[in-house]
Amino acid sequence: MSARERVQIGLGARSYDVHIGDGVIDTLGQEARALGAGKCAIITDAHVAPLWAEQVQRVLHEAGLATELIVLPSGEASKSFAQFQRVCEAVLACGLERRDLVIALGGGVVGDLAGFVAGVLKRGVDFIQIPTTLLAQVDSSVGGKTGINAAGGKNLIGLFHQPRLVLADTATLRSLPVRELRSGFAEVLKYGLIDDPALFAWGAAHGAAALAGDAAVLAQAVAASVRAKARIVAADERESGARALLNLGHTFAHALEASAGYDGRLLHGEAVGCGMALAFDFSAQLGFCQETVALEVKAVLAKSGFGVQPAQLAGGPYDPAALLSAMEQDKKNEGGEITLILARGIGEAFVHKRAPRQALAAFLHGAAQS
Ligand code: GLY
Repeated sequence: MSARERVQIGLGARSYDVHIGDGVIDTLGQEARALGAGKCAIITDAHVAPLWAEQVQRVLHEAGLATELIVLPSGEASKSFAQFQRVCEAVLACGLERRDLVIALGGGVVGDLAGFVAGVLKRGVDFIQIPTTLLAQVDSSVGGKTGINAAGGKNLIGLFHQPRLVLADTATLRSLPVRELRSGFAEVLKYGLIDDPALFAWGAAHGAAALAGDAAVLAQAVAASVRAKARIVAADERESGARALLNLGHTFAHALEASAGYDGRLLHGEAVGCGMALAFDFSAQLGFCQETVALEVKAVLAKSGFGVQPAQLAGGPYDPAALLSAMEQDKKNEGGEITLILARGIGEAFVHKRAPRQALAAFLHGAAQS
């Protein structure tokens, strides 16, 4: 068994640990007991349930806890009002009390929806995240963002509700296809590009091993990412400042995903990989960073198999006017002006308010044609 690591998310009374390593799921029963729970509502999806639900239920039963399994259809479409209502009713029907626990077992969709359910049921019950994708382990399970999608965009309905514990069991990464690993790896590179050039260099050197499923490299990638996210979230839990940097590449990415239609053809991390390339290209175009830096970032992304232009992504074609209009809906915008995360160099991301609209429109036009 590989070494386990514990990273604390320091949020005062809402602090919690992320346990990283092979087999950490087996500690769930004692951890749930220590939190005072008698019953756990396990929310998962149809893809993850056959792989991990039995083990999760077993360790809880062995610790004397009752369980209820609630299975969502897999895919982004489950972050809907309809599924939210169905899951809330199912959790209430199983008699969950305030001291009991919701367990989110799955990727980002499950974590976001289950966390939202936990945040509003009975005005808030505790929950544990058990992320089973690389993307969820390095990003979405940590930091307390929860929610569902609206007709107008992704994650527009939700709240901050921190988990009590995150169990990032790296054994769950073994069954992931390479596209899923790559999608998560985009977020690892992102932390390096934000403020940690050494992490970006590590990611550039170890991308191939991570995508080949090297267990030790993946565990290091998860631990380094969680430490990076812990620093940012502890400084700005509710995204009034530095946490916005975690959106590097995401404004472009969300626009690409909206254009692709959330039908599974374009994975979130694939869109983020391309979004980071576009953010560095646009930073260079506006004179914030050297052209050579943007080229270096794109070379590393391309070496890990990311498309660095929209035309290289699945789910297209991408219309520049549609991309701009999606970027105009972004949650970070203020006073009708687009906010972007741009960079002065590798590890030097910054929040750029009032992005010049005409320059952005021309940039998107050029990017969509290259
Ligand atoms: N995934 C971005 C954040 O948690 O703030």
